[in-house]
Amino acid sequence: MKIGFIGDIVGRPGRQMVKRFVSKLRESEGLDFVVANYENASHGFGLTEKNAKELFAAGIDVMTGGNHTWDKKEIRGLLESLPLLRPVNYPDGVPGRGVRIFEIGGEKLAVVNVMGHFAMPMVDNPFIAANRIVDVLVFEGVRYIFIDMHAEATSEKRALLMMLRERVSAIVGTHTHVGSDDLVIDCGCAYVTDIGLTGCRDNVIGMDAKVPIERFLTGLPGRFEVPDKCRTILQMIVATFENGRAVDAYKIRCYDDGEIQVSLKARKEE
Ligand code: FE2
Repeated sequence: MKIGFIGDIVGRPGRQMVKRFVSKLRESEGLDFVVANYENASHGFGLTEKNAKELFAAGIDVMTGGNHTWDKKEIRGLLESLPLLRPVNYPDGVPGRGVRIFEIGGEKLAVVNVMGHFAMPMVDNPFIAANRIVDVLVFEGVRYIFIDMHAEATSEKRALLMMLRERVSAIVGTHTHVGSDDLVIDCGCAYVTDIGLTGCRDNVIGMDAKVPIERFLTGLPGRFEVPDKCRTILQMIVATFENGRAVDAYKIRCYDDGEIQVSLKARKEE
């Protein structure tokens, strides 16, 4: 089973890169399934129905959320009607779900969305929630378990890997928008601290640099804007799994000038 993981899709530039490259990558890499993070996909904040449908039509199978899940009101209904997730560690009764199970070639695979604690909205303990849901999935015989750990702190993402590496197939980080170079297969679990954004690459986390610079200079608030024009990138982790375990992983970067770079082949740690 070969899966592609895309991180935070930021605004229209990110959506355009998905439309341009994802179906090509499905073909060239032989992908069975593609996971992406939607929380910044519409104008940088949340997800609209129109954009959700456009991203699914472009070749994404399921999308995870995070701290910006709730930014567009319509998400509450969409979480029920479309293959979308919100972090699993929200309290009972919150709309949507944090885990979805799919079937690929007769095998069950689960996609789980977890949100970290540091610099994030108040949610339930991500480690307790992740442990609990993984126990249930393993008990139910789900062999392929993929987690999007949407978190600011690198330590939280590493700790989740150390805690779950023998029981899950992959843990990929999102939220920082900055790709990290620590792709590894650890005890059969594919892991990267952050996949990195899909969107503008020549600004600040995919947003026009003017507002963040102003914020840092003055301490005054300002609303981030996705630039109309920018240089763009699509970043994807591709991983192959057998019997529920990761056996190979690498990273692909697609650029707006058409260049496609394959990099970061994962080292295997026993
Ligand atoms: Fe986020």
